[in-house]
Amino acid sequence: MADKFYITTPLYYVNASPHIGHSYTNIAADTVARFMRNLLGHDKVWFLTGTDEHGQKIQKAADLLKLSPKEFADKMVLKFEDLWKELNISQDDFIRTTEPRHIKTVQKVLDILYKQGDIYEDKYEGLYCTPCETFWLESQVENQLCPDCKRQLDKISEKNYFFKLTKYQSWLIQYIKDHADFIKPRTRQEEVERFLELNKLNDLCISRPKERLSWGIPLPFAPGHVTYVWFDALINYISAVGIFNDQDKYQSKWWPADLQLIGKDILRQHAVYWPIMLHALGLELPKTVFAHGWWMINDDKMSKSRGNVINPLDMVKKYGIDVYRYFLLRDVPFGLDGNFSEESITKRYNSDLANDLGNLLYRTLNMVEKYFAGKVPQVIEFRNPQARIIIEKSERLLNKIETNIGLGQDYNFSASLEGIWEVINLANKYVEETKPWNLAKEEKTDELKEFIALLVNVIRNVGQVISPFMPQTALSIEEQIGKSEVKKDLPLFPRIEINKE
Ligand code: MSP
Repeated sequence: MADKFYITTPLYYVNASPHIGHSYTNIAADTVARFMRNLLGHDKVWFLTGTDEHGQKIQKAADLLKLSPKEFADKMVLKFEDLWKELNISQDDFIRTTEPRHIKTVQKVLDILYKQGDIYEDKYEGLYCTPCETFWLESQVENQLCPDCKRQLDKISEKNYFFKLTKYQSWLIQYIKDHADFIKPRTRQEEVERFLELNKLNDLCISRPKERLSWGIPLPFAPGHVTYVWFDALINYISAVGIFNDQDKYQSKWWPADLQLIGKDILRQHAVYWPIMLHALGLELPKTVFAHGWWMINDDKMSKSRGNVINPLDMVKKYGIDVYRYFLLRDVPFGLDGNFSEESITKRYNSDLANDLGNLLYRTLNMVEKYFAGKVPQVIEFRNPQARIIIEKSERLLNKIETNIGLGQDYNFSASLEGIWEVINLANKYVEETKPWNLAKEEKTDELKEFIALLVNVIRNVGQVISPFMPQTALSIEEQIGKSEVKKDLPLFPRIEINKE
């Protein structure tokens, strides 16, 4: 086992409330962190998330409400903190880019890069997308519209500061070739490689003149300019672990990150700008940057303007935290896009949760109560061949999950859950084939004992291995199936009646 595990999520913009897309990355990161801590028993796991609070987007949103950007951010950050609490996200640290520890680190980075000549001053003339805060070349643009958001571009001309990406392009190409785990999944690695081989990078404009945008971190060597929000935000991953001020903590522990989870929308920043920034600073690169897919609504992007944004809290209220977590992790293999709909949640709920897991737990608890007065029968050795197959499969689950979401793997949550459900289904089938009521009638007590002990054993194991994915459910299973007695509660997942209208 590696000596430590440092996992990060993107820092979310506070200009709008969090939606299901943001919650997806945090639920995935939380699942990996819990898996490492609780199932692999890793005692040094550090899980970081936070908020991105500078830049035009936030300034604009604050202006609309007649608040200062900081007042606005202070209000909005609560929505993120509350949501993570609500979703059982177990982060160790939450960083805001307006905190002094971050601002100091950004200024130090700028200072180092400026002094070593990797940041220089130049005049910028060209096209700029204000909402996306991105510069575009004439050659990249059609009809003066932003290639990303399709909104009108502005023509600007101003003095700015640039970071020498160009200088490091061939180094990065080679690095990616030599480190197959750096960008995942494979398709994303290929995408970045193709991009770098076909395009000559431009140096990155990392400043904004204060007259145009004042809400940002001032450049230490040019107080008339603030830092471009992306250059500022990426640095959070190292400022949060005290890279310059706490040598011990940093050196011996957290950096480099082991896994940086992002959505595919911000791959370029994390797989091109970020590694070059780190390399220029003489720091190690994260072991893996993993870009997952997008949740869409009826194959359409979720956006405020389309009015189709889904609030995770509404889903949690309606279906429960663990149902929501289960759905996101199970329905789509990590890395691919998915369509989000309540119809699909309901389907999964009724089949996987009510019919399979809920039913197995409930019928087992019932039988322990009915046949053994609530005392869990203890069996040392399973003789029945079918039982042995199920036990073996169940005991191999942890291993199987490790090959899916363990260190350096493909973080395939969906396949892990499929594996767990295979065992649940085998156990349910075993109940139907064994017909325990007949064993009871024929007074085959030993067989009945073995049969029920097997079910209890499987459920305990399932409860354990689903704990990273569904922490609350795991707890509830543990409470209901004690070491020696059962304490049956209401069914965990009562069926949802589908309204035919
Ligand atoms: N602030 C930047 C990131 C800076 S990281 C140093 C940013 N913020 S964001 O609020 O727009 O969040 C982007 C991230 O939210 C995506 O990378 C992804 O993790 C998540 N998602 C946002 N919408 C999503 C979907 N529709 N589906 C899945 N995840 C998406 O970009």
